[in-house]
Amino acid sequence: MPTPFSPRCDRTEAWADLRQHFHDRGRRFDLRTAFADDPRRFATLSLEAPEVFADLSKNLVGADTLALLLALARECRIEARRDAMLAGEATNRTEGRAVLHTALRAPRGAAPHAAQVHDALEAMLAYAERVRDTAASGIRDVVNIGIGGSDLGPQMAVRALQERAHPAITCHFVSNVDAHDIARVLRQLDATRTLFIVASKTFTTQETLTNARIAKDWFVAHGGRDIAGHFVAVTTNVRSAAEFGIDTTFAFWDWVGGRYSLWSAIGLPIALALGADDFRALLAGAHAMDRHFATAPAARNLPLLLALLDVWYRNFHGFATRCVAPYHQGLARLPAYLQQLEMESNGKRVDLAGEPLPHATSGVIWGEPGTNGQHAFFQMLHQGSDVVPVEFILVRESAHPHADSHAKLIANGLAQARALMVGKTVDEAQRERAPTAAPDIDPAVLARHRSFPGNRPSTTLLLERLTPRSLGALIALYEHRVFASGALWGINSFDQWGVELGKAMASDLLQRLASGDTRGLDSSTAGLLSRLRAG
Ligand code: F6P
Repeated sequence: MPTPFSPRCDRTEAWADLRQHFHDRGRRFDLRTAFADDPRRFATLSLEAPEVFADLSKNLVGADTLALLLALARECRIEARRDAMLAGEATNRTEGRAVLHTALRAPRGAAPHAAQVHDALEAMLAYAERVRDTAASGIRDVVNIGIGGSDLGPQMAVRALQERAHPAITCHFVSNVDAHDIARVLRQLDATRTLFIVASKTFTTQETLTNARIAKDWFVAHGGRDIAGHFVAVTTNVRSAAEFGIDTTFAFWDWVGGRYSLWSAIGLPIALALGADDFRALLAGAHAMDRHFATAPAARNLPLLLALLDVWYRNFHGFATRCVAPYHQGLARLPAYLQQLEMESNGKRVDLAGEPLPHATSGVIWGEPGTNGQHAFFQMLHQGSDVVPVEFILVRESAHPHADSHAKLIANGLAQARALMVGKTVDEAQRERAPTAAPDIDPAVLARHRSFPGNRPSTTLLLERLTPRSLGALIALYEHRVFASGALWGINSFDQWGVELGKAMASDLLQRLASGDTRGLDSSTAGLLSRLRAG
């Protein structure tokens, strides 16, 4: 018996209470006053989860708001939904599938499908170690061909942990059907020293199959003969991989969502770059976060608290976007990874019963590593007309010896979070000197330009070091937060029907590009198509 649908957030008493609370007090909450009134605010609103220390104190919530948000989680029976997911229930109801990426990182015997998970893991890691023996394997370049979940996770993780990567193996990632992407990579390669991984859960994805064909043709044209030794597939569709001509296959299962799959054989590039021990450490870090999510009481449960803040900001304050600012260059691809994780999971507009929702769901996730973002879009974060909650990710110890630059990086991250919160009044601005201002400008006018509203919320996530274990925990934290916010909103976070329409239209338009047939098209698409065919 599947767990009955939990009450949708907007149909709970807590929702009505939150509405009232927002109207009465919540919308006027002032962080500066809250800190002045409560010297223990940081201590109360910060918490330790596995590998991640979280400071939630710069968020627009008091104890009263949090109590109501926790009541919402209770009424929506989030813990029962979580337990059902972890036990292997068909949480992805529209596709009738279990959602068990957590089983991929559980110790043997601790989660469903343990035997096949661990057998597949051992086989994948043993293969990775053989390739990493570069003297014997001869492999120097690895090209992962995949897109979405079959690209973003491994790419993000390999980049994050680059300092630990095998010194003689370079990992490349090709995703776009735009062949400029693969051409850029192929130019650098020697066929005899290259391993291609064709990574596709379905093995039907147009971009990946197109790039895989280009890679195979290139390989043969450049003297490559041993396809079996230089091409492997990672897929749930082993038969299609074999039909494509790839016999070395690492399988995974339909209960692993694409955007939750880096823990499966989709993580092969990570294992090739970092080795079996580091891959196991990545899994162990994620598992530690899984245990935290499964067992920590709601009021100290970090993924749940972050999800509740997401609901508070999105549905009550009406904030439409959230900025992720990792102050670590290794995490440069984390915002892109989180875009798929959050927006493909929770960008939905009907509930589990197919009823249109009256409330907003996933906002836009975006970001860039600090300090680069400071010199691009932080102006808008500080003085723009929209409030954008920011997530700062700081790493206490760097992996490089340049202590001075690391101190500057950390200082900048702290400064931005503080500046967003404290702001600067017009009076303060007027008292300051502004040497670059026009000499004849009215000081009162100038002060209005130079003031900051402040009271802009942020969360700071702090890692001791960026290691496979802490990265695993950080990613699992985001996965569970997405699950919890999706469950509160009453949606299925694990399907992605919204990508189908464009795919179907692209195959139709591909044929029309060849034939020139514009019958039945709107005049804009028809006009553009004709123009693109001309000449
Ligand atoms: O963009 C839709 C999607 O299905 C994603 O969910 C998935 O991660 C990506 O395409 C790639 O799919 P596959 O791994 O099956 O090639």
